[in-house]
Amino acid sequence: MHIFTTIAELRAWRKSAGYVAFVPTMGNLHEGHISLCAAAKAACLQHGGGKVVVSIFVNPLQFGQGEDFNTYPRTFEEDCAKLIAAGVDAVFHPTVDQLYPRTEQQYKVEPPAIQNELCGQFRPGHFRGVATVVTKLFNIVQPDAAMFGKKDYQQLKVIEGFVADLDMPITIVPVDTGRAADGLALSSRNGYLTEAERAEAPRLYRNLLAIKTALEAGASDFVKLTETARADLENHGWRVDYVEIRDQQRLEHARPGDRELVILAAARLGKPRLIDNLEVTLA
Ligand code: PAJ
Repeated sequence: MHIFTTIAELRAWRKSAGYVAFVPTMGNLHEGHISLCAAAKAACLQHGGGKVVVSIFVNPLQFGQGEDFNTYPRTFEEDCAKLIAAGVDAVFHPTVDQLYPRTEQQYKVEPPAIQNELCGQFRPGHFRGVATVVTKLFNIVQPDAAMFGKKDYQQLKVIEGFVADLDMPITIVPVDTGRAADGLALSSRNGYLTEAERAEAPRLYRNLLAIKTALEAGASDFVKLTETARADLENHGWRVDYVEIRDQQRLEHARPGDRELVILAAARLGKPRLIDNLEVTLA
């Protein structure tokens, strides 16, 4: 497996790499990330061969004041072992100076109003930072396809949005959320949970499932459904940022009669802020 730390090295190799499927990450890799690598491998096979490129870069631009940029787990050696086992061809692991050589990134990719809703309401500037770094990574790697997890549903929608609006010739491939056996969505931030919190954490997904079941049974009082979930979480020590039901395509507030819904939630349990979501497609 190639390991590139500079843009120049990666670019020189990419010229003769053929079809490239790309998986951007911040490292501390788990099975969720590895399933994106598997989807990238599958895309290469479908195209008669190609290379899988993974980036590992903890992007300062998407972390707010008081967030965990400095303490975000950096586990490059272990990550590389997992990527070799997954059959990845190349890793791009730049320094902050390599991607942001000037003290400030002056030109940024500005998402529309959705960047201030859901997670954006609680993480000002986050999606601008994500859109900007993913655009830079796309310009460096020049992939044919890029894989993103549905775990970060709003992020996936923002990326699909700027790729379409800015005419980037890249196929965005959504990948289902990888979960632990008890339903908890895999996340690098799960490592911040204490043992007791880890036992409590699947409650978030259980509440999403309860809403899904109710919607499938015909419930349509979205406020009541989400408030019930919020109350259950708060009664068990969570601090809830939001529980919402939106439409899958544009992430607008769901309206009665909408069939393609997604339930999204974010809440703090002790130190970490956990997010999860569940798509519901009504018949
Ligand atoms: P990171 O949190 O490392 O996630 C990298 C990719 O893995 C994202 O597409 C994310 O949605 C996906 N992922 C995370 N947990 C998952 C799970 N349980 N199942 C399936 N996929 C999962 O998201 C980022 O990094 C950054 O914002 C990035 C896009 C790299 C830009 O800096």
